[in-house]
Amino acid sequence: MKMIRVGMLGLGTVGSGVYKILTEDQSQIQSKLGCRVEIAKILVRDKKKFRDFSVPEDILVTDPKLILEDETIDIVVELIGGIDPAKAHILKAIENGKHVVTANKALISQHGDEIEDAAQACGVTVRYEASVCGGIPILSTLQEALSANRIQEVFGIVNGTTNYILTKMSNEKVDFKQALEEAQQKGYAEADPTSDVEAFDALYKLLILAKFSFNTQAEHSLVYREGITNISINDIQYAEELGYKIKLLAIGKESDGQIELRVHPTLIPKEHPLASVGDAYNAVYVKGSAVGSLMFYGRGAGSLPTGSAVVGDIMYLVNHEIGNGCHIYNRPAAAIKAFKNMRDTKSTYYIRVIVKDIPGVLGRIATVFGKHSVSLASIIQKDVGSDQVPIVFLTHETLEGNLQNAIDEITDIPEVHTIGNIIRVDHL
Ligand SMILES: NC(=O)c1ccc[n+]([C@@H]2O[C@H](COP(=O)([O-])OP(=O)(O)OC[C@H]3O[C@@H](n4cnc5c(N)ncnc54)[C@H](OP(=O)(O)O)[C@@H]3O)[C@@H](O)[C@H]2O)c1
Repeated sequence: MKMIRVGMLGLGTVGSGVYKILTEDQSQIQSKLGCRVEIAKILVRDKKKFRDFSVPEDILVTDPKLILEDETIDIVVELIGGIDPAKAHILKAIENGKHVVTANKALISQHGDEIEDAAQACGVTVRYEASVCGGIPILSTLQEALSANRIQEVFGIVNGTTNYILTKMSNEKVDFKQALEEAQQKGYAEADPTSDVEAFDALYKLLILAKFSFNTQAEHSLVYREGITNISINDIQYAEELGYKIKLLAIGKESDGQIELRVHPTLIPKEHPLASVGDAYNAVYVKGSAVGSLMFYGRGAGSLPTGSAVVGDIMYLVNHEIGNGCHIYNRPAAAIKAFKNMRDTKSTYYIRVIVKDIPGVLGRIATVFGKHSVSLASIIQKDVGSDQVPIVFLTHETLEGNLQNAIDEITDIPEVHTIGNIIRVDHL
């Protein structure tokens, strides 16, 4: 029976899941492929490090060349993470004629073109299903099963850490700091949570989703990014009163030949299926020209769910590429599409303004909104009598540029203490 030899770089959370699936489920994988897939070597930093599963020490190596330059290895699986040295290792593997599987969203979203150009030049394939939403097979679904469709919209809860925090804040009425601490204790958030809570992780995933949805490669700088650190328990409660949940959404839309990409906290109607996606789960909502609306839900991270996507990519390569030539995974069209400026996007807005409780202030703010063509749908005012009171406005759909012009002027009203928060609302 033919043997496919895999060299794995990294044996952390995802690497251990891949190792367990390929060793413990070897017979079902073999029966599906008609050949054996063997993990021949694994790159680690410390061969003696404690691991809670057994792995033969003779397959562990600390020198990457022993994998990247081994002519008997067919597929290199990169699970180190980050840019350096992951990128150099992947380029070396490609140069040496090996197919590559990676889960590295930071690398693919920033250097995917360079890596795929190198793969094309060397006649090998790079796959990265696990880089977006871990166990949810969204990239291959967009690429293959939905290829008959023009994708019009893609909305995703693509970061489990922030979804866990927002769910905790909403269900238990704890503030952001406390919810983050609990996420860290449970292992859902890193000691340095910046990449998750400031939405860099979601941005990386949106860029990859955009490539598969709209066949284009966007620059990071073209995408509006806003994290969840400014969401207060008050915002969550007011949103609920108005009939909404707050979720961190990665949003991509194509309309009038322009692409709109943004990542930010969003109010979504309580009855929308995305609103009920809780805890560390992920979901992606897709609207295709022929199929209509679809939603994909599941675990966006974790050892075995992410391992499932990585092993799926390995099996795809064995089935489609090894010994049968190769193709390049979703090369974006040569023509660069126009990207919409954030000021030209349209949304409904939730705005919480903290004011001094002086008669007439509500009228002055409403006048400024009107002057900038921002029409108001609802107003909530509470705590009358205290020194600083919140007023919550919900607008009708308006241009971001108009809203920002209005906010600039409202900030200058002497009775306005501060703008508590502005959150976009999407009725999906
Ligand atoms: N965790 C998830 O649920 C998840 C989900 C989707 C995608 N991903 C992506 O999957 C990738 C791996 O994530 P992970 O969570 O598995 O990371 P991890 O648990 O930190 O594991 C990384 C592994 O790579 C090893 N490593 C790091 N730098 C190395 C170097 N220079 N040379 C050799 N080995 C090195 C580490 O060794 P040490 O053990 O010695 O530190 C560790 O074994 C990342 O790109 C991540 O974004 C992760």
